[in-house]
Amino acid sequence: MALNNPMMQFCVYAGMAFVLSFGSYAVITSQGTEIAVGQMSAILTYSFQILISLMMLSMVFVMIAMSMESVERIVEVLKERSTLTSPDNALIEVKDGSIDFDNVSFKYSKKAERMALSDVDLHIKSGELIGILCGTGSSKSTLVQLIPRLYDVTEGCVKVGGEDVRRYDLDSLRNNVAVVLQKNVLFSGTIKDNLRWGNPDATDEEMLEACKLAQNPIFAEAWVLYCRTPIFLPEQ
Ligand SMILES: Nc1ncnc2c1ncn2[C@@H]1O[C@H](COP(=O)(O)OP(=O)(O)OP(=O)(O)O)[C@@H](O)[C@H]1O
Ligand SMILES: [Mg+2]
Repeated sequence: MALNNPMMQFCVYAGMAFVLSFGSYAVITSQGTEIAVGQMSAILTYSFQILISLMMLSMVFVMIAMSMESVERIVEVLKERSTLTSPDNALIEVKDGSIDFDNVSFKYSKKAERMALSDVDLHIKSGELIGILCGTGSSKSTLVQLIPRLYDVTEGCVKVGGEDVRRYDLDSLRNNVAVVLQKNVLFSGTIKDNLRWGNPDATDEEMLEACKLAQNPIFAEAWVLYCRTPIFLPEQ
């Protein structure tokens, strides 16, 4: 592909040089009887146009080859299945909001030298409000991500409502655990579209309720005013 453009350019200019040199030779030697100057310049223009069109065509093939490669990679991601699955006879109901970390250790990869979390023993009762304050990179987000089972623990166990998170049906568990991470993403569209990611059939009242639950009164009020206004975000 890298050679395509220079090669095509070379062919175009070599073609023109060929037409020009042989054409001029023919015009001069025949004194314009075999081929006239006007005819030669017409041949030159036409051959240039044909070569440029062929160049465009070759670019199309390059683009097709590039898209096929991208399609393969996108399909690879779409086909990827999660290694985390719901167990047989999975629990559907989460009894309460209690969270227990029993001697939890976790590392992101088997090959990782260092544990992201090491021997964490933490017990939070249902309804309790807990703040975990620590330096950046100290695994606060990692700790939170173990609760909806975005990762499985390496050692120990995480319990929600008194049951190991690995015993729950994944959808039920994740519907019962709400996580608001520090890096929030808004998609282009209306605020309503963004709110409906959680539940595509949510009614206006339910969406307003969700905004209020998220404890952001400014957003909840703005939603009433702007829920039908499209928002456009810069491409990232
Ligand atoms: N997906 C990942 N794969 C491998 N390592 C990760 C991954 N996510 C985070 N880490 C590493 O785990 C450690 C803890 O990261 P984490 O994001 O949990 O910290 P944090 O306390 O939330 O930090 P911050 O205050 O910046 O939000 C860091 O060393 C980080 O580089
Ligand atoms: Mg974090």
